[in-house]
Amino acid sequence: MESSNDSSSALSIRLRQADEPLPLPLLLIGDPDRMSIEFYADHCRWWLAEYENRPVGICGVLQRSQEEWEIMNMGVLPEYTAQGIGSQLLNEVLDSLRAANAGKVTVGVRSSSADALVFYQKHGFRMTAVECNYFTGPEQELRIEHGIHSRDRVLLERAWSDSIRRRKPVALSHFHASVSIRIAQIRDAGPLLRMKKRLDEQTSYMLLEPGERTMNEAEQRDMIRYALRSANSNIFLAEQDGQIIGYLEVMGGKVSRNRHSAYIVVGVLQEYANRGIGRRLFHTMLQWAQDRELHRIELTVQSVNDRGIHLYRSLGFRIEGIQKNALLVDNKYVDLIQMGLLL
Ligand SMILES: CC(C)(COP(=O)(O)OP(=O)(O)OC[C@H]1O[C@@H](n2cnc3c(N)ncnc32)[C@H](O)[C@@H]1OP(=O)(O)O)[C@@H](O)C(=O)NCCC(=O)NCCS
Repeated sequence: MESSNDSSSALSIRLRQADEPLPLPLLLIGDPDRMSIEFYADHCRWWLAEYENRPVGICGVLQRSQEEWEIMNMGVLPEYTAQGIGSQLLNEVLDSLRAANAGKVTVGVRSSSADALVFYQKHGFRMTAVECNYFTGPEQELRIEHGIHSRDRVLLERAWSDSIRRRKPVALSHFHASVSIRIAQIRDAGPLLRMKKRLDEQTSYMLLEPGERTMNEAEQRDMIRYALRSANSNIFLAEQDGQIIGYLEVMGGKVSRNRHSAYIVVGVLQEYANRGIGRRLFHTMLQWAQDRELHRIELTVQSVNDRGIHLYRSLGFRIEGIQKNALLVDNKYVDLIQMGLLL
């Protein structure tokens, strides 16, 4: 393997089939206790991350109740760590569980496992409890990490609020593991701009006509840089096989009286539309917005854009007003519908 991009772009993530054997060496990375693995393995749902058809990462979750799932085991082969594979795998698992209406996902981590504690918190988990002396039973091996005697277990939880769970979930059939949702980075400026220009050619539902997008790559880079630094703005990308196929920009208010509110622009390339990608972009953005404690998300949509209006309403957006004849599209006046969602 040469670089992180090489491995993550050729990575595929999928649910393990019921009759497929589990790769024990991978399981032992997440949980060195073979006996305990035997105890839960058959009861878990397992996701596999594969690189060139070789399993390089695994995550197993156990359903504890109708609402609660627990991560029992998660591991990435040592030679594939620090390349974003664990994050992609965990995001896929969390997206799927949320889509299946999970209320929360929990995980127990050794108090001495600093990397794991950081990893889960970066993915929205919060610490909820410490079980003292969890790892000090007679059958437990003494383990020292970072010079710390590993005795206690920290419990972390990723919970979704009711307002997120009430939203229509993404159909599981729409979960193409090959499509990933991620935050735009500076290096995405050129491909993102080219994708926006293609979209301007494909649809009259965006604001700009073909050829009207004057932004250059440096300006797009500045915009991404601004979004990366801003607390209430962000750009989410849908990507397949290294190609940007959709985007969702959230631009937050810039003064104290409207910082709680953000405006959305969204687009998915025509050939990928209607496959749940717009919904996935929104789910990811809304979770982020809630984590950032934004209170209001707003957008405008042409009154003739039935698909857009259906999607936004199903996500909880309400019609707040109509801007009569706001646009002139192909020589016809079109109304703009103002929609808003309070989080
Ligand atoms: C609007 C857009 C962002 C939606 O993204 P998407 O990936 O196509 O949307 P999804 O597949 O997640 O969801 C589409 C929903 O609309 C429904 N739909 C499709 N065509 C429809 C129509 N003509 N009337 C009503 N609903 C329709 C689908 O059934 C689906 O709903 P469901 O999940 O309840 O079954 C995307 O199609 C797009 O970029 N269109 C062109 C540009 C655009 O309109 N941008 C938004 C400007 S406000």
